[in-house]
Amino acid sequence: MVSTHPTGVKHAGSQYLPQRSSTNAISPNQELLPLTAKVNSSDSLEIGGCDVTTLVQQFGSPLYILDEETLRTACQQYRDTFKQYYQGESQVLYASKAWNCLAVCAIANSEGLGIDVASGGELYTAITAGVSPDKIYYHGNNKSRAELLYAIDAGVNIVADNWYELQTLVELAQQQQPVRILLRLTPGIDCHTHDYIRTGHLDSKFGFDPGDLDEVFTYVSQQAALNCVGVHAHIGSQIFERQPHRDLAALMVQWLTKAASYGLTLTELDVGGGLGITYTESDDPPSIEEWVKPICEVIQEACTVENLPLPKLLCEPGRSLIATACVTAYTIGSSKTIPNIRTYVAIDGGMSDNPRPITYQSVYRAVVANKMSAPLTEKVTIAGKHCESGDVLIKDALLPKTQPGDILVVMGTGAYNYSMASNYNRLPRPAAVLVVNGEANLILQRETYQDLIRQDRLPERLKS
Ligand code: LLP
Repeated sequence: MVSTHPTGVKHAGSQYLPQRSSTNAISPNQELLPLTAKVNSSDSLEIGGCDVTTLVQQFGSPLYILDEETLRTACQQYRDTFKQYYQGESQVLYASKAWNCLAVCAIANSEGLGIDVASGGELYTAITAGVSPDKIYYHGNNKSRAELLYAIDAGVNIVADNWYELQTLVELAQQQQPVRILLRLTPGIDCHTHDYIRTGHLDSKFGFDPGDLDEVFTYVSQQAALNCVGVHAHIGSQIFERQPHRDLAALMVQWLTKAASYGLTLTELDVGGGLGITYTESDDPPSIEEWVKPICEVIQEACTVENLPLPKLLCEPGRSLIATACVTAYTIGSSKTIPNIRTYVAIDGGMSDNPRPITYQSVYRAVVANKMSAPLTEKVTIAGKHCESGDVLIKDALLPKTQPGDILVVMGTGAYNYSMASNYNRLPRPAAVLVVNGEANLILQRETYQDLIRQDRLPERLKS
């Protein structure tokens, strides 16, 4: 087991690492749990000072449980590491596609982070959460005219992805102040992660092709309606390799130099997100510091060589800020043993609240919250409750003997779980609580059956 702690930071003794109680050891899964996780005297898992079993009694099941301390710690770690290693200005943006809701945006904002949004809906949430428009960066490869108008009116930074968008922006901006944009460029840098979450390679739907660079810079430099302030790239997600982001940083400085030759003074450089996290014992991602430091160094060195002033450096982590801060608690129900094959243990959620296993074959680990020190004697497959054979959350989970009513906690569910949740089979989406110092606040109300039919319309002629 590597010594990666749950924010993905490997610095035992760092000011950000609260000591865990050694008497309440919860290894081997300790590192996958939020920082405040411990086992209490009832042998029950506690997060943020709240007993998970009690939370489920109070708020229902399934339940997303978000640990405020772990989230804030990761925000601080990113923010302060940039301050430590980068001599210019820096701004960390939370990639809110990982989990976009009012409370999470408000926490990131209160830690000094800006917000990366990827749709009008995410933008609306960030603005409603009180995030200042100048700290919002709006991404997307096919923003609608209505979304662009909304973004222009709100005064946020728009990360222009393609020619159609640039031309639409020029058209829409004519009556207004010049629109503040960054250009998203495809770097042609590959990395090893799931095919669906690679974005930096040339065959990507995102960003301007590098072959278009001269034409794009020429066009942008001639448009009074556009105030182009920087460049952006994002090469993918759940990345463990270190070299791709170094290469990206070096390449992006070359883009700044090239832009200067077109009379464009670009002052912002946004390297995107992508740092991976520990989902299982075999994952060994770089720490936040190991990711941030070389990026800062490469940019500083390259700017010295190119004789460029240091740009404002931005990045957009999502997963590595929030994944480990959250667990999902489920209630165990039925089970089925197929002799010599496997035992299925079913829970009251599944692919609707965590679509990652069925979408990306993602692997998760789980513990039984009300039996934390029971011996791990069973190898079972955790099945969801959807009418779909592929609805399996974990294959071959090592658990204590379970019975209906036990609380299964799946770890590392903060990123791309709620944000990708659906109502498949018309399951209401779970509630989410924010826990800190023994207090639990509801941040997402559980959907009801009424919510499920709220948008349904029954034509008069079908009414019986
Ligand atoms: N910036 C941009 C432009 C992005 O597209 C993304 C993620 C990020 C930042 C944040 O990347 P992160 O730090 O979270 O790796 N649904 C997939 C992940 C899709 C990532 C999409 N873009 C999953 O569940 O693994």
